[in-house]
Order: sequence, then C-alpha cells, then structure tokens
Amino acid sequence: MSADDIEPGDAIHRGHPVIVDRYTKGARINHWITAASLVLLALSGLALFHPKLFFLTGLFGGGQTTRMIHPWIGVVLFFSFFGLFLRFWKANLWKREDGTWLARIRDVLTGHEERLPELGKYNAGQKFVFWSMSALILVLITSGVVIWDQYFYEFTTIEQKRVAVLVHAIAAVLAISVWIIHVYAAIWVRGTIRAMTRGSVTGGWAWRHHRKWLRELAAKLPNGRSKTTHAK
Ligand code: HEM
Repeated sequence: MSADDIEPGDAIHRGHPVIVDRYTKGARINHWITAASLVLLALSGLALFHPKLFFLTGLFGGGQTTRMIHPWIGVVLFFSFFGLFLRFWKANLWKREDGTWLARIRDVLTGHEERLPELGKYNAGQKFVFWSMSALILVLITSGVVIWDQYFYEFTTIEQKRVAVLVHAIAAVLAISVWIIHVYAAIWVRGTIRAMTRGSVTGGWAWRHHRKWLRELAAKLPNGRSKTTHAK
C-alpha cells in the first residue's frame, strides 16, 4: 500500500480509545499564525475597502496605521501559508477516489460516508480549500505588491495599479469565502477541531473519515499487522 498521505509525526497510539496523531506542534503553530494573520488581514482590509467599514480601523489604531500595517500582515500570511504549503502539498494531491467522493457528495452530507471509497489524509473538500487558498494568496500578494505605493510605486503604471486593486479585492472576497467554508467544515465534522488544537484525533474519527490514511499508518505499526479493526 502506498503511504504518500502520511506526514511526519502521524502515528497511531493503541488504547481505549485509539488516538491518532495528525499534526505536529510545529504544524499547529504554523497553522494558527496563518489563521490569525488571515483574520487580521480581513479586518484591516475590509476597513480600507468601504467607508461603511472604516470604523474597523479603530482596531488597528486609526486609518494611517491600518494602511501601514495591512500589507505587512499580508507578508506574514504569505510566508506562513508557504510553510503550510511545504508541509501539506503532497497529501493534497488529487487522487481518483476524490472525484468519486465529490460526485457522491450527497452521501457525505447525509451521513453515509461508508458508501464512498476510503480516503487518504484529506478529502476533496479539504483539497479544494488547500489549492484555492494557495492560488488566492499568491494572487493577493502579487496584486498587493503592485498597489503597495510606499515601496513599489514607480514599478507599475496607474492603469496596472487600477487592475491590481480590482483583482486584489476580488481575490480577498474569495479567500474570505473559502475561509468561512473551511471553518464551517471543521466545526461540522465533529471531532475535527481537536486535530488542530491537540494535534490528534480519535481512531473512530480516522476510521470514519480517512480510513485509507489510518490503514497506511496501521501498516507501519510494529508487528506489521494492521490494527485498524480496533479503531472503531
Ligand atoms: C481561524 C479559523 C480556522 C480554524 C478554526 C481552522 C481549523 C482547522 C482544522 C480543525 C484543521 C484540521 C482539519 C483536518 O485535519 O482534517 C485545519 C487544517 C488546515 N487549515 Fe485551518 N483553520 C482556520 C483558518 C485557516 C486559514 C485562514 C487557513 C489558510 C489561509 C487554513 C489552512 C489550513 C490548511 C492548509 C489545513 C490542512 C488541511 C489541508 O491541507 O487540506 N486554516 N484547519
């Protein structure tokens, strides 16, 4: 069995219940820095986006500081997400079973995951969040640099800056939407949040949602024998 979905630190611990390590401390710190910077970026960006939301500048010490700080938080998000990208890209590669999972999303939403193919570490929804965030953050940093007049004013024309402002705003709205989907899904699939807080999930969670990943991990247990039947 190929084990390309296993990430460093993933491991099964026998017991009642079985516990499965899913994220290292480093990955979790990396994730929460990314999450915090996206929230701060959204708040400071929305403050600059529309006069009705200008009051949000109060959170950052006024209009001038908001304008100064927003692009720097963007730089933090870019590098922080790049860290996540390096950690997670491989397990997010598209697999044949992802197409089937997506085509039968109704079974997922009605609680019949057992009718679907076994999945690796991530499902198609998580992969969608991963790749769309990767693309959107790239668009945001590129268009952001074009309109970061304090340092890069002379490198582009006014017309290019106009296009960049529009592209930046559209990408931001899409990124906020993807973020809402991500958080909703993390809460909706019970037992998922602890993956990013404690770093582990129960064997039952892994068996139900990511059985192929669990089997790959079980195959690595000492004695070589699969113990996944204990994971319910
Ligand atoms: C602030 C609210 C957020 C919450 C509550 C949250 C929660 C979570 C949870 C629980 C997981 C683990 C899912 C699993 O292993 O099955 C996760 C994974 C992940 N999160 Fe978040 N997250 C938040 C924000 C973000 C943001 C802003 C980004 C990116 C810009 C992000 C990117 C990721 C990535 C890349 C993964 C790994 C899953 C994958 O690669 O498909 N998260 N998140």
